[in-house]
Amino acid sequence: MAIKISVLKEPANNWKGDALLLLAGEGGHAEIAPPSYAHYVKALAERGDFEGKKGSLMKIPLFDDTGKAAKAAKNVKNLYLAGLGKGEEYTPALLRDALTGALRKIGRERNESIFVLSDKTGPDADVILGEAAELAGYAFDKYKKKDDEKTGKNDGKFCLKEIFTPDFDKKKVTLGRIFGDSQRYARDLANEPGNVINPVSLAGIAARFAKEHGLVCEIWDEKKLEAEKMGGILAVGRGSVTPPRMIHLTYSPEKKAPRGQAAKRIIFVGKGLTFDSGGLDLKPADFMKTMKGDKSGACNVLGIMKGVAALKPNIEVHGIMAAAENMPSGSAFRPDDIIKARNGKTIEIDNTDAEGRLVLADALVYACELKPDVIIDMATLTGACAVALGSWTSGLFTADEALCEALLNSARRRGERLWRLPMDDEKIGESLKSKFADLINCDSRYGGATFAAMFLAEFVEKGIPWAHMDIAGADFMKEESGVYAKGASAWGVRTCLDYLRTFA
Ligand code: BES
Ligand code: MN
Ligand code: ZN
Repeated sequence: MAIKISVLKEPANNWKGDALLLLAGEGGHAEIAPPSYAHYVKALAERGDFEGKKGSLMKIPLFDDTGKAAKAAKNVKNLYLAGLGKGEEYTPALLRDALTGALRKIGRERNESIFVLSDKTGPDADVILGEAAELAGYAFDKYKKKDDEKTGKNDGKFCLKEIFTPDFDKKKVTLGRIFGDSQRYARDLANEPGNVINPVSLAGIAARFAKEHGLVCEIWDEKKLEAEKMGGILAVGRGSVTPPRMIHLTYSPEKKAPRGQAAKRIIFVGKGLTFDSGGLDLKPADFMKTMKGDKSGACNVLGIMKGVAALKPNIEVHGIMAAAENMPSGSAFRPDDIIKARNGKTIEIDNTDAEGRLVLADALVYACELKPDVIIDMATLTGACAVALGSWTSGLFTADEALCEALLNSARRRGERLWRLPMDDEKIGESLKSKFADLINCDSRYGGATFAAMFLAEFVEKGIPWAHMDIAGADFMKEESGVYAKGASAWGVRTCLDYLRTFA
């Protein structure tokens, strides 16, 4: 459950509750503590126990050497100090990760209420507070027997319910909560395994979601996909007993755009491989694991639409998800097959595991037909991108400088690492050509992420600003840290929602 955020009513020293958290940089921690704690923190600092190192969290038992409760501790059970590092390294991401990470740990130590003070705050601090309140307690544990049911105790269970803080801007906190909540929703979906979410059930979830939030939902089943010449999605989905789906959600603003002016139209496109076994080019076991997460792009699009429904921006927003399951079987598409995408381009299949670009090809062609002002797609597209950038950074591919700048700025504000990779490589462009068809779906292992992005570009109408985010790697976290829990990260949702706001 999300944590409540309340303004402190009494002087800080009189606040009664479970935990006091001071977020402090190196050397600056005594000043932010309420006066009756200040001497205590200072004494500790002089002892050198707490250095304010980035990422550190220290729990101070509020008892003195004789075992008596310290004078400062009359109202609070636990005092925590979280490090923010040196001043010059300070960024919103640092505060977000330190706060969320600290709240997660503190929430597991039987603290239900907490009073938070920080010595470093920027204009974004209240938005970050909202994000942290939504994300600190996030875990995908619905299939696990709860600890307290097993043991009767609640050891390790997240039980933080309320955060107190001296003052905050309600609007900013609400905005942060929308960012965080959208991400929770996307994570919950992406974390579901392939035996629960398949293309058909994902379409059902999207339809129900649209109804609840007043969005228009259109779903294309396999017959309609056939009629609409979506040869890419159909080929990829052919091996599975569950047929593919194209899901299209639309949000339209209530306020009409000024006369003579059309409302801006933005489209998010998501890769929705509910499971990617590789198909006939079957993945080895180690690589197949976590491929339930190959629908992260589509789940992110749903998360973004949840945020859009709450933010109600004055622009038209579309979410298009290409959902399929890539499985080997007698009906599966094969290497050497030549398929035809919605725009009539033929594609020779070199490897059935390079399937994401095939479903996205159709989805991008369809998106362009809607004549949007911007298209942004998100996809767990290539292992090559994860190899290049690691597990905490996504790749950005775009030929549009303004869009590039805007997305990099949004990512920076929201603390999601995004790095631009090239999409203008002539030699790789030449390697897209097939001997027998217009295009081939993959080539060398070298430059795999750029190849995939340039392949997608073949399906985007010239003149429409378009960006592709390869979220392979960053979509899934092995370990929790900062703002991330174990499992799906919903990387990109905060960035895209932030970007949408630049239009308002
Ligand atoms: N879904 C995978 C990419 C992926 C890898 C996502 C690791 C998340 C983590 C994609 O469909 C794929 O299999 N790509 C192949 C492409 C290759 C056959 C050209 C890859 O990256 O190996
Ligand atoms: Mn694949
Ligand atoms: Zn895939």
